Amino acid sequence: MAEADRRKWDARYASGNFLIEEGAPSAILVRHMGAARRGRAMDVAAGMGRNALYLARHGFAVDALDISPVGLAHLERAAAAAGLADRVRTVVVDLEVHAPGKAIYDLVIMANYLERRLIPRLAAALCPGGLLLIDTFLDDPASRAVAMNPAHLLKPGELGAFFGDDFEILEERAYPRVCMDGSERLKQAFAVRRRP
Ligand SMILES: C[S@@+](CC[C@H](N)C(=O)[O-])C[C@H]1O[C@@H](n2cnc3c(N)ncnc32)[C@H](O)[C@@H]1O
Repeated sequence: MAEADRRKWDARYASGNFLIEEGAPSAILVRHMGAARRGRAMDVAAGMGRNALYLARHGFAVDALDISPVGLAHLERAAAAAGLADRVRTVVVDLEVHAPGKAIYDLVIMANYLERRLIPRLAAALCPGGLLLIDTFLDDPASRAVAMNPAHLLKPGELGAFFGDDFEILEERAYPRVCMDGSERLKQAFAVRRRP
C-alpha cells in the first residue's frame, strides 16, 4: 500500500504542475504562527513542503517527512533557493509505521493527510506547550465532489477523542474549500496544545 502511494505521489510531483493550494501555507498554520513558540517543527506528509518552507521562514528548524522522495527533492531545491537549507531536514518515511520520537517538537502540522494510527504518536512527539495543527478532509455525504477513500475522511468531532486532559483544544471547525479538481469539499481545521 505505502509503495503504491509512493509511486502515485512521485508521479504527481514529477509532473511539475501539482501545486497544492497554489503553494501557499495552510491557513491554520498562518493563523497560529503568531502565538507559536519557535523551536523545532515537523511537517507530516510534507509533499513539496509549502508548510515546511513557511515554518523555516518563521525561524523554525523543520523536519519534513514524506514517502515521496520526488516531493521532498522539490522542497530541498526550494529551501536552498530561499537560503533556508540549514533549517529544513527532509526525511523519506512511511508514516503508516513511523514513530517520530517523544516530546521533541514545538509545532507539528499535518495537512491534507490522514493516518489515524499516527495521531497518538504525533501527540506524544509534542513538547509540553507544543502545538499540533491538523487540516484535512471531512466526510461530507452531501458533497458531489469526486469520491475519496472513506478511510482518508474524518468524521465530524472525531479528532477531539484522540486527546486527553493533557491537551487543550484551541480550534475545531469545518469549512468549505474548492479543491484542485474544482470540486468543493468540507475540510476540518483542528488545533490542540499540549498543556505546559
Ligand atoms: C495531499 S498531499 C499533502 C502534502 C502537503 N501536506 C500539503 O498539504 O501541501 C499528501 C502527501 O502524503 C504523502 N503520503 C502518502 N502516503 C504516505 C505514507 N504512507 N507515508 C508518508 N507520506 C505519505 C504523499 O507523498 C503526499 O505528499
